[in-house]
Amino acid sequence: MSQIFLDSANLQEIEEALGWGVLSGLTTNPSLMSKEEEPFEFLVKKICSLMGENPVSVEVLDTKAEGMVEEARHLAAQAPNVVIKIPMGVEGLKAVSRLNRKEEKIPCNVTLVFSVNQALLAAHAGAAYVSPFIGRLDDIGWDGVALVKEIVEVFSRQKITETKIIAASIRHPRHVHEVAAAGAHIATVPFRVLKQMAGHPLTDMGLERFLSDWGRARQEEGIRP
Ligand code: G3P
Repeated sequence: MSQIFLDSANLQEIEEALGWGVLSGLTTNPSLMSKEEEPFEFLVKKICSLMGENPVSVEVLDTKAEGMVEEARHLAAQAPNVVIKIPMGVEGLKAVSRLNRKEEKIPCNVTLVFSVNQALLAAHAGAAYVSPFIGRLDDIGWDGVALVKEIVEVFSRQKITETKIIAASIRHPRHVHEVAAAGAHIATVPFRVLKQMAGHPLTDMGLERFLSDWGRARQEEGIRP
C-alpha cells in the first residue's frame, strides 16, 4: 500500500493530521521550517517525538559533502526517527554514500530530484528515499506524474528495492491518487491537500440530505430530532 506522509513543519497541522490516523511519516524542508517561530532544534525534536517511530525528513543546509555529513550526524543524534534530506548533486551523492557506510547507516532522502538518472544515482549511492518534485515539473510544463511512473518502472526492472520513491511537491488531490496508481511508495502531502483529499461536495450534500430526511421524519412523528 502506498503511504501518506505530511509535508509540513507546523505543529498544529501535524497534531491535527496525526489524529486522523493516516500518516506514516513526515517531510520538512528549509522553506517550511523557516515559516515556524520555534527554534530549529526544538522543532526537530518535537516533530520527531510527535511522529513516534515514523520517519521525519530534515534537510541539511551545507552545500559541501563534508559539511552535509557533519550536519547529518548532528541531526541524526536529535531523535532515532530522523531521516536526513540531502539535495541531489555530486556533493549530495558523496554525502549519502558516506552516511550509508555500514558502520554508520544514517538513512537519507535525496531531494530535488527531477530526472530518472538523478533517482538512479541516488539509489546507487545508498539513499533510503528519493523525492521527485512533481508540482515543480508541472509548473514548467513538464509532467511530474510521468516522471514518477518512469522511476517506478526503472527501479522495478533494475530490482532496486532498498530505495523508496516519495512523490513530493504535491499540489492537489489528483496528484496523490495518480502517483499512488503509478506505484510510488509514498506521497508527501501538504496539510491543505490532505484536507481536500478527505472532502467531496457530494459527501457534504449527501450528509446534509440524510440528516434533513431523518429530522423531517422525526418531526412528522412528533419527536424532536
Ligand atoms: O518538501 C519538498 C516539496 O514537497 C516542496 O514542495 O510545493 O515547495 O514545490 P513545493
